[in-house]
Amino acid sequence: MSAPSQDVRRLTVSDIGRLYADGERIPMLTAYDYPTARILDDAGIPMILVGDSLGQVALGYETTVSVTMEQMLHHTQAVVRGTKHALVIGDMPFLSYSSAEDALENAGRFMRDAGAQAVKIEGGVRSARIVEALVKAGVPVMGHIGWTPQSQHGLGGKVKVQGKSKDAARSLLSDAIAIQEAGAFAIVLELVPEQLAAVITSRLHIPTIGIGAGPSTSGQVQVITDLLGLGTFKPKHARAYADLQGTIAEAARAWMADVAAGTFPGPAETVRMDDEILDEALGRHADDRAPGAVDRSVGAMIPLDRDL
Ligand code: KIV
Repeated sequence: MSAPSQDVRRLTVSDIGRLYADGERIPMLTAYDYPTARILDDAGIPMILVGDSLGQVALGYETTVSVTMEQMLHHTQAVVRGTKHALVIGDMPFLSYSSAEDALENAGRFMRDAGAQAVKIEGGVRSARIVEALVKAGVPVMGHIGWTPQSQHGLGGKVKVQGKSKDAARSLLSDAIAIQEAGAFAIVLELVPEQLAAVITSRLHIPTIGIGAGPSTSGQVQVITDLLGLGTFKPKHARAYADLQGTIAEAARAWMADVAAGTFPGPAETVRMDDEILDEALGRHADDRAPGAVDRSVGAMIPLDRDL
């Protein structure tokens, strides 16, 4: 008999490279907290991204631009604690990698202080120098091109598919190649027409992980709240596999109804003590006890005079 849990070990970027080389489609999901990370890890997800989508889907900000390093580290630590197997990737937030020095310092915090095994940074050609510096320093980097939410103000504000014109398609291809050459182990392609995503995927020798980029990328990533039906807005590229919003609302309503009816907590959720010990504590006799009733009056809570 084999010992079941002993061979659970943390995946590395080399394992992801092997999945890619074996032609397996690679799934990645985002997570921001301990219980979700634990469930995804138990389900066997190979990569978990602690995305800066945290800001919008878990912290209620308008955009990802408001997310800080401290918030990212806090949530990455929780995800790392919840996982034993998945490769955990920390998403470097806005302006945390504007110079190679900042990038090294902040990537170091993700790996050293939060326990991530890799980081993700947005941008193609413009970020290649930073990716290279990180990789040279031993930090595994996932790139992210196409729609890059941190630069949404520069990209015209409105969420939009990227690379549709001749020039934009060419520049996206150059971005992908620049990030690969800089040493990234994988690249997220976000909101890219499927034909262009297929071409980029076929020209690279590292995996592309698509979101809104069609079915031909090497893997897929989704934001966990979209997958679980937990958001107020469902992007076109997302498919909900559950309706947690409905499930949570239904559970809350059912519980409130039980509280109102006095049926929560019931015997299963309630602890009793030995009645005789309570009688002794209160200095009362069994005869003083109202049969079966819990006496919550002030007098019933304090010792009787004869006990004082
Ligand atoms: O922050 C995030 O969740 C992401 C994914 C959409 C790839 O960057």
